[in-house]
Amino acid sequence: MLDEKTIAIVKSTAPVLAEHGETLTKHFYKRMFSHNPEVAPFFNPAHQTAGKQQRALAGAITAYAANIDNLEVLGGAVELIAQKHASLMIKPEHYPIVGENLLASIREVLGEAATDDIINAWAAAYGFLADILIGREKQIYDENAKKPGGWEGFKSFRVSRKEKESSNITSFYLVAADGAPLPAFKPGQYITVRVKTPDGQTTMRNYSLSDKPGQPHFRISVKRELPPEANTPAGYVSNMLHDAIEAGDTIEIAPPCGEFFLDVTEKHERPLVLLAAGVGITPIMSILLSALEAFPKREIIFIHAALNESVQAFGNAVNALAQQHSNLRTYHRYSDAGQRTGNASTGLVTAEYIEGLLPSRDADYYFCGPQPFMVSIYHDLIKWGIPASQVHFEFFGPRQELQAA
Ligand SMILES: Cc1cc2nc3c(=O)[nH]c(=O)nc-3n(C[C@H](O)[C@H](O)[C@H](O)COP(=O)(O)OP(=O)(O)OC[C@H]3O[C@@H](n4cnc5c(N)ncnc54)[C@H](O)[C@@H]3O)c2cc1C
Ligand code: HEM
Repeated sequence: MLDEKTIAIVKSTAPVLAEHGETLTKHFYKRMFSHNPEVAPFFNPAHQTAGKQQRALAGAITAYAANIDNLEVLGGAVELIAQKHASLMIKPEHYPIVGENLLASIREVLGEAATDDIINAWAAAYGFLADILIGREKQIYDENAKKPGGWEGFKSFRVSRKEKESSNITSFYLVAADGAPLPAFKPGQYITVRVKTPDGQTTMRNYSLSDKPGQPHFRISVKRELPPEANTPAGYVSNMLHDAIEAGDTIEIAPPCGEFFLDVTEKHERPLVLLAAGVGITPIMSILLSALEAFPKREIIFIHAALNESVQAFGNAVNALAQQHSNLRTYHRYSDAGQRTGNASTGLVTAEYIEGLLPSRDADYYFCGPQPFMVSIYHDLIKWGIPASQVHFEFFGPRQELQAA
C-alpha cells in the first residue's frame, strides 16, 4: 500500500499535471522513443501523430493522481488498460522503461518544481500502479495460454477465405496455420494483427472478431482507411490487408482480449439494444450472433448507421437473421439522402430515433462506432438515466479520446 505522505504529495500534483499533462507526455514519448527505441513498435504511429496516445496517457496519469486515495474508481480503467496491454504483449520488463522515462520527464518539464519528495512519491505511485497492471496482465496471458487451443504471443494464422462485405470493408477468415483448434473468446473481443513495416520493424493493430465464438475460424472485417487529407499517408495495415493479403497467405495474430463483451451467462429480461455505426458493426455483429443463440426469447433491437448502402457491411446478413428470429428487429439508417422503405431510413441515429423503436428506455445497450456517434449515444443514455451497468461500448482508439470529447 502507498503511505499517507506519498498519497498526499501525488494528489497535490494533480492540478499541475492537469495543466502540463500534454506537454509532459509529449516530452515523455519523444524521450522514451529516443532512449529506448525498442518499445516504439508497440505504439501505433498514427495515434502519436494525432496526439491521441499522448492525451490517453496524460489523462490516465491525471486521473490516477486525482484518485490515488480512492482507487476503486479506476477499477474499470485498469481492466481496459490491462486488456489493451495484454493484446500488445506488454511485459513486466517494459514497466521500468516507461517508469524511468516518465520520472525523468517530470523532472525535465517541471524543473525545480519537481522536488525530490515529488519524484520519490511518483516513483512509489508508478510502481504501485505498475504492479496492479502487471498482476492483471499476467492473469490474462495465463488464461489465454491455458484455454484449449490457446497460446501466448504471436501465432501464424492462414487466411482461409477473403470476402468483400461492402465497397470498403473486407472480411478475412483465419485458421491456425498448424491446424490447431481455436480458443473460445467472448463476443465483442478483439485480436491483434502484427505485420512488418518497410523499415524492418513490426507494427500491431487490434481488430474485433466479427463472427461468433465456436466457429472453425476467426473472422475479422477490415475497413480500408483512406488518407484523411491530401499529402497524408493511407492507413498502413488496413490497406496492406486489403491489397497484399490473399486466401492462402499467413499473418501473425495474438489471442483475443478486451473488456467489451456480451456476457451470455447473464440472463436478463431487459431488451438488448445493439447500436453500430460504420465499421463499428464488427464487435456488434459477433454480439448479435451470440445473443440470438443465447437468448432466443429476449427482445433484440439492432440499429446500424452507415453513410449509404454501398459502404454498409453485413446489411443482408442481419436482414436474413431477422427473418429467422422473431425476437430480432433490425434497422438500417443512412446519412446520405435518398428514398427509403421498410427497415431502412435516412438520417442520423439520435436519441429520438432510438427511443421511437424501443418498448421502453430500460434496456442493455452495446454500441461501437466513430467518435461523434459514440459521444452522442453515450451522453443520451446518461441523460436518460440508464445505469452504467447497462451501458457497454467499444471505441476503436484510446478511450481518453472519447472522454476528452
Ligand atoms: C479494440 C479495437 C478494435 C478494432 N476493430 C476494428 C475492426 O473490426 N475493423 C477495422 O477496420 N478497424 C478496427 N479497428 C481499428 C484498427 O485497429 C486500425 O486502427 C485501423 O485498421 C487503421 O489502421 P491502419 O494501419 O490502416 O491505419 P494507420 O496507419 O494506423 O492510420 C490511421 C489513420 O491515420 C491516417 N494517418 C496515418 N499516418 C498519418 C500521418 N502521418 N498524418 C496524418 N494522418 C495519418 C491514415 O490515413 C488513417 O486514416 C479497431 C481498433 C481497436 C482499438
Ligand atoms: C503504470 C503504467 C501505465 C499506465 C497507467 C498506462 C496507461 C495506458 C492507457 C490509459 C492506455 C490507453 C488505453 C486505451 O484507451 O486504449 C494505454 C495504452 C497503451 N500502453 Fe500503457 N500504460 C502504462 C504502462 C505501459 C507500458 C510499460 C508500456 C510498454 C511499452 C505501455 C504501452 C502501451 C501501448 C503500446 C498502448 C496502446 C497505444 C496505442 O494505441 O498506440 N504502457 N496505456
